[in-house]
Amino acid sequence: MTARYAVDPDVTLAHTLPGRFYHDETVWQLTGERVFARSWQWLGSLDDVSEAGSLAPCDLLPGFFGEAGEPLLLSRDKSGVLRCLSNVCTHRGNLLVKTPCRADQIRCGYHSRRFDLAGRMTFMPEFGAARNFPSPADHLPQIPFGEWAGQGYASLNPAASLEEFLAPMRSRLSWLPLEKFVANSTRSRDYDIHANWALYVENYLEGFHIPFVHAGLNQAVDYGSYRSELHRYANLQLAEARDGEMAFDLPPGSPDFGTRIAAYYWWVFPNLMFNFYPWGLSLNVVLPQAIDRTRVLFRSFVWDESKLDAGAGAALHQVEMEDEAIVEAVQRGTHSRLYDRGRYSPAREQGTHHFHRLLTEFLYPANGALSAGAMMEAGES
Ligand code: FES
Ligand SMILES: [Fe+2]
Repeated sequence: MTARYAVDPDVTLAHTLPGRFYHDETVWQLTGERVFARSWQWLGSLDDVSEAGSLAPCDLLPGFFGEAGEPLLLSRDKSGVLRCLSNVCTHRGNLLVKTPCRADQIRCGYHSRRFDLAGRMTFMPEFGAARNFPSPADHLPQIPFGEWAGQGYASLNPAASLEEFLAPMRSRLSWLPLEKFVANSTRSRDYDIHANWALYVENYLEGFHIPFVHAGLNQAVDYGSYRSELHRYANLQLAEARDGEMAFDLPPGSPDFGTRIAAYYWWVFPNLMFNFYPWGLSLNVVLPQAIDRTRVLFRSFVWDESKLDAGAGAALHQVEMEDEAIVEAVQRGTHSRLYDRGRYSPAREQGTHHFHRLLTEFLYPANGALSAGAMMEAGES
């Protein structure tokens, strides 16, 4: 029997995931189909498919679903409908579209099979004698897709709609003029970390370490009022600004009007981090590369340049370096023969507990059917 991990729903009683969880090859194998295929994954900007009759290849989870990711194709048809299709030809598996382009059809460069922009096969040479052809399997599979703030999201097998994942964030920030956010490539970069992806995420989900790990950030945010709010598939860490530090200028329509918010740190299960600062958004996408290797994309969208270098949203690279050093140390620590698992601070680690609960819920759907007493916490079955 392989280990089946669980975390008690009561944070005051729960133990954290054991160190071996992060090195368990069975968990790593399950993560693809049960966690990443079932959640919503960031595809990037939709700028290349803004016009009717346009195509753009995009790859889902590069480094995880194969080296280059699952090959997908964004296709906006003549009537303006945007779809997310497989970018793999249904004949013998050639990749269809290599670069963004305008087109009125999709033509495979191998044996010239053609599809319309909705993904339906329309023509195939030399198949006159083929029986039971074409069939629905000859059309391009269409993948659940959604968009928010000019960015595309796809899910191979969603556990719930994109709206259910994003709704708490969207409504809390409905006053933000996202259409004014401008992608800024010079403030975007990729980080490679020698650690399991879940260790990176769980570190992000608690502000407990801010006074101990982030001296600079600790000057900008008020640790005493720092708090987490949990939703079904997302959570929010709310950081208020210290006196004299940069804060949002909130309109009366905001539920937080009257407070001085330094940052909204929104996490969307399992690997998306939307960090809103007075200057705009730093979107972090956590891409597992191997069981002990993780790439994190930082993508900046600037709204108010004058606020870029102040408060919680300044010095993001420095904060990232501090986080990476800790996460890599924990990666080593979780290998220890003398470490099993710890406990959660009920005051400060609700977000990390929430992540571990969701992660084990997705990894072991059958856990949900068991009564709490029937399931050994973080035990084996
Ligand atoms: S692989 Fe596309 S037509 Fe043969
Ligand atoms: Fe941190």
